[in-house]
Amino acid sequence: MSYKEQIDLNRIPCHVAIIMDGNGRWAKQRGRERSYGHQVGAETVHIIAEEAAKLGVEYLTLYTFSTENWGRPAEEVTALMGLLFESIEEETFMKNNIRFRVIGDTDKLPDYVRGRLNACIAHTADNTGMNLVLALSYSSRWEITEAAKKMAMAVQSGDLNPEEIDSEVFSGYLATNFMPDPDLLIRTGGELRLSNYLLWQCAYSELYFCDTYWPDFREEAFFKAISVFQKRERRFGKTSEQIS
Ligand code: IPE
Ligand code: IPE
Ligand code: MG
Repeated sequence: MSYKEQIDLNRIPCHVAIIMDGNGRWAKQRGRERSYGHQVGAETVHIIAEEAAKLGVEYLTLYTFSTENWGRPAEEVTALMGLLFESIEEETFMKNNIRFRVIGDTDKLPDYVRGRLNACIAHTADNTGMNLVLALSYSSRWEITEAAKKMAMAVQSGDLNPEEIDSEVFSGYLATNFMPDPDLLIRTGGELRLSNYLLWQCAYSELYFCDTYWPDFREEAFFKAISVFQKRERRFGKTSEQIS
């Protein structure tokens, strides 16, 4: 039985987050430049986004460029920005009823990229299907620090009572405040770490790591991750008996 056939369509994770890793190593293995890996990785993004939308995933959050990735060689950063600009395909989003969104410190992005992103966000704003969220110039510590700053300002201006701050209020100040926490976090490329991604939000997410490099992570690999997720028991601190 294929992995797709094993998927229970009534129990699709609402929010899937992915750390898309391994583009550079994939290219190196083929004797090519790292940028070639990013190019093929961008094709994977479209394939996985389309499959996730078809399955009924409501939020797909893709770690596309981290705060720390600004520290890569300038030519790689420039190539990634150019690729980002070229890869925003509004037609695919419109065809699949996908709403496009971005989280991260987008002020740091080049103007031409930000303009393209904002146009696509506006154009797809009324789509009612899956939310495709790119984490760009994003890191959890940036996000949490920003939230703390905003809360401090709200307290200072009298709009927020410090006594009222609980985890729900805190979540409301994060860039992800429009979506539920990830049910499933996938990391491709073999590394077993979170690399500053959705640290607060993944408190109870199911983690799935695989060795496949992102450019090779196609339909069946994605279906496998979903099917493995569906076999897990999520207890949220309770006992197995309480769950069943
Ligand atoms: C992930 O692939 C893409 C980005 C971080 C932008 P990498 O570029 O990290 O590829 P590896 O991990 O070096 O193989
Ligand atoms: C994480 O990948 C960031 C993205 C996938 C955008 P990295 O390749 O930057 O992570 P580290 O540096 O190996 O932890
Ligand atoms: Mg990497």
